[in-house]
Order: sequence, then C-alpha cells, then structure tokens
Amino acid sequence: MSPQRFLRDYWQKRPLLIRGMFADGVAALTPEDLAGLACEDAAISRIVVRDTKRERWTLRNGPFGERDFARLGRRNWSLLVQDVDKWDMDVAALLERFRFIPSWRIDDIMVSYATDGGGVGPHVDQYDVFLIQGIGYRNWKIDARPDAPQAFRDDSELKLLREFAPSHEWLLDPGDVLYLPPGVPHDGVAFGECTTYSVGMRAPSRAELLFDFAEFLAEPLSENQRYIDPDLAPARASGEIDEAALARVRKALPHFSNVDKSTFSTWFGRFITRYRSAQVIAAPGREIGLAALQKRLPASIVLRNPFSRIAWRGDGRTAELFVAGEAWRCPRALAQCLAAQREIDGSELAGLMANASARETLKALLDAGHLQLRPRRR
Ligand code: SIN
Ligand code: CO
Repeated sequence: MSPQRFLRDYWQKRPLLIRGMFADGVAALTPEDLAGLACEDAAISRIVVRDTKRERWTLRNGPFGERDFARLGRRNWSLLVQDVDKWDMDVAALLERFRFIPSWRIDDIMVSYATDGGGVGPHVDQYDVFLIQGIGYRNWKIDARPDAPQAFRDDSELKLLREFAPSHEWLLDPGDVLYLPPGVPHDGVAFGECTTYSVGMRAPSRAELLFDFAEFLAEPLSENQRYIDPDLAPARASGEIDEAALARVRKALPHFSNVDKSTFSTWFGRFITRYRSAQVIAAPGREIGLAALQKRLPASIVLRNPFSRIAWRGDGRTAELFVAGEAWRCPRALAQCLAAQREIDGSELAGLMANASARETLKALLDAGHLQLRPRRR
C-alpha cells in the first residue's frame, strides 16, 4: 500500500493489519540484550506480571537486576523498555520504514519481550502506534467500534480498561504490523515467547500547546509592561468589570482576539479575583442548610472575608459573580451588593432569596468561608 493511501484511509482513522510489512522478520534485539538494557539506570523499563486466575496485572518499574528476572516464572510476564531506538542502532533503523511520517511526530520505539500468556492487559493509548511483531507470535484483540468504552479499572496503576469487548482478533506472525490510531482499545497476549516493537507517536495535547505558546509569548515581555488604564472613568459600582476594562485586557492580549466575549470575561473575572490573593480561604467545616439560611438571614449581618476578592460583570438583570477565582451566575443585585459592602445587613438580601441562583450562590459563599453570618446586635 502506498503511503498516500495509508495516510488517506487509515492514519488517525481506523486500524490496519499489515501482514508481512517486514518480510524478513525483525530481530533487531535479542531478549537477553533487552534484559541487559532494563538493568541500566538510564533506561525506562517495566515488568508486568499477569495473574491469570484473577485477571489482574501488576507493574514493577526498573532498573532491574539479574535476581528480578530469576524470580519470574516461565509464563505470564512481560518486560517493556522505552526509547530503545536511542540505545540501539538496529532498532533505530526500523524507523526508516516510517519515513513517510514527519520524524518529529515519532516518539520512540518501545520493545517488549513476553513469555507465553504475557501482556499488559486491555488498554487504550493516546497516540498512534505501529505494533511490529518481532520474534514469535502474539494474539491481538482490538475493539474498533467508534463508541468503545474507555473507562479505567480502579484496581491497577496500569490504566486497564474496565470493559473490553473485542470486535477483531488476529494472531500476528513475525514481521506483521498492526497499526492503531489513538483511542482504540487493544490487548496483545503472547502466544509462546515473543517480542513486539511499538513505534509510538507524539501528539502534544491542546492544553500543552496553549501553555507553551503563552509562555513563549510572555518570555520577551518585561515586568513593566502591564495592564494600564490612564483613561479610567469613575467606577459606577464597586467590583464591576465593565466594557472598558475588558477592552483594555483584550488590548494587552492581542493574540487571543478571536476568543468570544463571554469566555474572555469569565476567564478575566476568575483570574483577577485570584491574582495576588494573600490567603487561602478556609471553609467553616460545616455547610449551612438552605432552610437555615433563609431563617437566619433577616436577623443576621453578612460579613465578607477580607481576603476574598470579589468582582462581577453584569448581563441585564443577572451577573457573573467572581470570588477568589470562582464564578457564579446570580441576580445582578446580589453581585452588586456583595461587591459594594464588607458588612451587609441580611435583611437587604432576604428579598432576593426567592431566586434560586441567589440562594445557591449565597450558600456556596458561606460554605466556602468567603461569607459569614453573625447575629445582628440589637
Ligand atoms: C506490548 O508490547 O506488550 C504492549 C504494546 C501496546 O499495547 O501498546
Ligand atoms: Co498499547
């Protein structure tokens, strides 16, 4: 198959079994060499032992010593070493067959040696992988359905799948290759002794790209390039994040000019109420019931924790209220009142309690310790 056809029809789309891709087989590394590498401090190695009675897999991390291998049984375990292409030229040479993929997209070749029945259990990988059968045979099962369940079992650090219902099964011969796009559940069990060479890809998450790009943009900026507002007009209401403020923040971040207004203002409100906060607010340890809140409020003073920074942004009769990095949607009157006063007469807020979002917001702020109720002194 031509690289063009593979990329068009399979790459990142669907699994493909390529029989005999390495027609002369692959024996770049002997199991003894692999075990030797697994004893090196600098190599990243793991041994996975399968308990066939309970269908459980346990993980041990390297480096290993000779005695670790001596203790293993004759069946049901596997040794895996990452980045073997960096240690062994013959293994690195396998990458020649993958030149149609940009080299920076390839992460490493992981080599595994398994005894009969050995494997790492059913799992999914976040990256595309080409599983090359080295010596021996391995039985691969995959679930190629687009809605295949991906939830993990909680009894293993190996991120094993809770449910695995294979839709395909193949026995790979030496030199066969199974290509899997990210997210396809799979499980390979050694049929007799075998080795597998996994050519794994790299794909940074969007979050990683965003963080790194932001860092890159920020690096040349100096400390004295800051948010500025020489055009500031007198505040209409305390704590309000108005249009002019948002426009100034946008000007400071021209790289994100496409971000929609509501995402941008929610981010800024959460950021600015966390920015330079001097304390972490302690929760009182006991939540207030909604009924108790309604009963106590008219006879109480609502005290604001002086360390809880507050801001809000109005949207008609409602507002987004920001407190110490979190956001709540509530009536504008509540947001305005909480931002304006450090001590609020509860009777002023009692009228708002008919509104569910006002009740929930006030309760959440009391439960988090941003607000406190004190009986009003007579
Ligand atoms: C293995 O080589 O045993 C595991 C490879 C994989 O499933 O990604
Ligand atoms: Co895998």
